[in-house]
Amino acid sequence: MRIDILTVLPGLLKGPFSESIVKRGIEKGLVNVHIHDIREYSKDKHKKVDDAPFGGSAGMVLAIQPLHDAITHLQSEREYDEVIFLTPDGERLNQSRVNQLSLYGNILMICGHYKGIDERIREHFVTLELSIGDYVLSGGEIAAAVLTDALIRLIPGVIGDETSALTDSFQDGLLAPPVYTRPADFNGWKTPEVLLSGNHEEIRKWEEEQALKRTKKRRPDLLDR
Ligand code: 6GU
Repeated sequence: MRIDILTVLPGLLKGPFSESIVKRGIEKGLVNVHIHDIREYSKDKHKKVDDAPFGGSAGMVLAIQPLHDAITHLQSEREYDEVIFLTPDGERLNQSRVNQLSLYGNILMICGHYKGIDERIREHFVTLELSIGDYVLSGGEIAAAVLTDALIRLIPGVIGDETSALTDSFQDGLLAPPVYTRPADFNGWKTPEVLLSGNHEEIRKWEEEQALKRTKKRRPDLLDR
């Protein structure tokens, strides 16, 4: 998989991709993440990328020219399966959308800023608009990092234990069951006996029950779907 990200704050995206699982996926060559500074495409003599909105409302808007040139330049080099705009008014991201996107070869992400981006970019280039939740971030970068992390950990070979991504919360529509590790008894705080029993059938049943119980209590909305 190749992920290209367009941003006016490239520095904000470097950190999340230089640690842990995402770093491993990149180092193993299982994914390529390319961060592009929109400013480099600006034809303005001061490399300006934003402007005041028509109509006179407050704030600034990412202008059409630098974004248009950046997107068409990237699209001339490869075909993108999806051009995603990260925006709080997009479709709310969930695991099934992440699973679907993880099967793609080339994804282009656009991070919005200020009051947003010129609407014509959305009309003519963007194929999918995603939000990561019902709250407002100061830009799309953190959301792009969230989406990228969620995608990369699903790529086969990125996570050591191949089955572990499948047992995550949400992967089967349920929250994950509680987990324990040694010591089985920590100053009297005990691990449930069944987990120490070695009876795999009983353990699987217990985990399923716990997942269901936890979901009913904490996220009943997941069971309504
Ligand atoms: Cl994708 N962008 C911004 N700016 N804020 C958000 C978001 C995205 N998702 C939730 N809040």
